[in-house]
Amino acid sequence: MTTSVEDFEHVLEPATTPDTPTLVLLHGTGADEYDLLPLGRALAPGAALLSPRGKVDENGLNRWFRRLREGVFDVEDVITRTDELADWLTVALEHYELDPRRVVISGFSNGANTGAALLLRRPGLAVGAALFASGAPLQGREPDPVDLSGTRVFLGAGKVDPITTIDRTHLLAEQLTSRGADVVLDEHAGGHQIPAEQIVRAEEWFVRCGF
Ligand code: MLT
Repeated sequence: MTTSVEDFEHVLEPATTPDTPTLVLLHGTGADEYDLLPLGRALAPGAALLSPRGKVDENGLNRWFRRLREGVFDVEDVITRTDELADWLTVALEHYELDPRRVVISGFSNGANTGAALLLRRPGLAVGAALFASGAPLQGREPDPVDLSGTRVFLGAGKVDPITTIDRTHLLAEQLTSRGADVVLDEHAGGHQIPAEQIVRAEEWFVRCGF
């Protein structure tokens, strides 16, 4: 089946500053493609923002992949949906004439897990990612031995997050680092949220990376 730009509901905010990377935004459970636009504008002022909507409907809540219950993922669905999203992103970047070599992913919670799955399944799709409240998405499986050298990742995590527990974030950090990614692990004292101070640190990281 041919992938079309219409396959995901999405919003595209064109760049207002030339020579900036494209930020792909992946919302959390129950949100939509508009939710993370302010985060995107904070992280990458002037950059193009490409923000799709997850297609899985969990009792009326948008998600990126199915889960069996909170914290327990349908890993086959994670893989299928991640690959579908990766194919769509490739088509959407071409459609909007965005440079495929300058893509950075950002996401929260379910969207961050999906961003992590994109990194682990499609190395080369993104040069970096700022993921908030993400754990290792391929639960119970060792991801393929892909080469992520040159990929910069900011992982924002809450030490007492009851949904994405800190050990799950640590496992993701280990999976990314052992595949060559340059990972910054930024822990805050709270739970399943993105504190304002962490957004500031992510902004500083973004500037330092020079995407
Ligand atoms: C998930 O991917 O299911 C997250 O960890 C939790 C959530 O989105 O509610």
